[in-house]
Amino acid sequence: MAQDDVFKKLVAHSKEYGYVFPSSEIYDGLSAVYDYGQYGVELKNNIKKYWWDSMVLLNDNIAGLDSAIFMHPTIWKASGHVDAFNDPLIDNRDSKKRYRADVLIEEHLAKIEDKISKEVEKARERFGESFDEKKFRETNQRVLANQAKIDELNERFSKAMNGTDLAELRQIIIDNEIVCPISGSRNWTEVRQFNLMFSTEMGSTLEGSSKIYLRPETAQGIFVNFLNVQKTGRMKIPFGIAQIGKAFRNEIVARQFIFRMREFEQMEMQFFVQPGTELEWFARWKEARMKWHQALGFGAANYRFHDHTKLAHYANAATDIEFRFPFGFKEVEGIHSRTDYDLSQHQKFSGKKIQYFDPEKGESYIPFVIETSIGVDRMFLQVLSASYAEEELKKEDGSTDTRVVLRLPACLAPVKLAVMPLVKKDGLPEIAEKIVNDLRFEFNCQYDDKDSIGRRYRRQDAIGTPYCITIDHQTIDDKSVTIRYRDSMQQERVNIEALRDIIKEKVSIVSILRKI
Ligand code: GAP
Repeated sequence: MAQDDVFKKLVAHSKEYGYVFPSSEIYDGLSAVYDYGQYGVELKNNIKKYWWDSMVLLNDNIAGLDSAIFMHPTIWKASGHVDAFNDPLIDNRDSKKRYRADVLIEEHLAKIEDKISKEVEKARERFGESFDEKKFRETNQRVLANQAKIDELNERFSKAMNGTDLAELRQIIIDNEIVCPISGSRNWTEVRQFNLMFSTEMGSTLEGSSKIYLRPETAQGIFVNFLNVQKTGRMKIPFGIAQIGKAFRNEIVARQFIFRMREFEQMEMQFFVQPGTELEWFARWKEARMKWHQALGFGAANYRFHDHTKLAHYANAATDIEFRFPFGFKEVEGIHSRTDYDLSQHQKFSGKKIQYFDPEKGESYIPFVIETSIGVDRMFLQVLSASYAEEELKKEDGSTDTRVVLRLPACLAPVKLAVMPLVKKDGLPEIAEKIVNDLRFEFNCQYDDKDSIGRRYRRQDAIGTPYCITIDHQTIDDKSVTIRYRDSMQQERVNIEALRDIIKEKVSIVSILRKI
């Protein structure tokens, strides 16, 4: 199936099974804003717990924080967001569609990269085991020509972005004959800057009110609380502060479902280190974060690092962790070495000393910062994309059937087990209800007695429930039930008494946390 179709099906499935709804749907929706349904909110909470526990529970030197969304407006001046949190936008005069100029160029680069990948894959098929990819990339003329185009374009693009040269960005689009995906034309306007922050007024009277911003990242709430947490928690460098919370950006191009939203959630951790040690910590966090992703078992080949060559003025290293979504490899998380930029700026703008006294060195300094920043919603999309499967099943009579299954890691699944009486009589529903009432204190359980057992299994497969417990007449005789495993569809008979321990072991987040 084409990857575009997979993605469309995933979006439809998310809505049909209560994961994600378009916001304000009865009013025709609100662009790039989404609501999480009954299963979506559970999955989201489980993702957040996995992240929070991996940061705050497992590290003595990482503390949690929940700072307010509204903050003093000068914070955004100090951080650079008022002056520089802009995207270069360009309109196509024929389609009247608006684009990010940098994204148009990046997509053009990705197309050339795609051509190279296709050459490599074709050659791999042709040469089989003896294929030497490195040598092929170094010698194949078509690959070399395309790589030269990429390098040249990248250099020009970096220069234009770093120098905020909007005319040059437009010229790159013209020179590379980049067309509007809707109209197919090259009838472009000038490139203009567009600030991504939402603003509102705080205060009851017009005279007394002041302009404030909805935070575009949670990180600044951490920086302005650096001293509060360090002093009250008696934290010694190196230490980190972790926070999960909403962020808001007036994205120009909001596409691809929950990948790019105007209201979204971030999980950010700022790790404060001694100046001069930041690149060593950057490397450590890079490795730790990749391990965190891969521990979920979606396959190492679906992840890659994208090291930045264009660095923000305050960073001395940066990388993205990218995941292979149905629409290609895209950023899920950013890891940035932000130097002492943010704390220095807040020291300057607030006029308050923001320094750490290092007892070992006997001196005060502004710490350097390594940031790990991941979007909850993008992580959610990663988990759903990796879990969604359509399978063809062979039935006993030789015919085939299909099932849609969400192969969610059990620790993240919204519902851990569904308990089903085989028939609605003979005391089976009462036994099933008792099991649910016993286990609901520890696991999210569902009681389900509607339709045939086969249809009930399919329903649970579609929401990703890893275990279905069936109560049948044998249960009355020997207190045994069957567990049906979502992924293998195998069934096993176990004693009711053993259920709690079996399920607990399987759905526990601890086994995943131990891997990281
Ligand atoms: N504090 C650093 C920071 O905010 P970023 O690369 O702009 O860095 C970090 O964002 C992460 O937040 C991204 O890797 C992505 O997962 C998520 N994110 C950013 N913008 C988003 C949007 N419009 N919709 C959903 N997630 C977004």
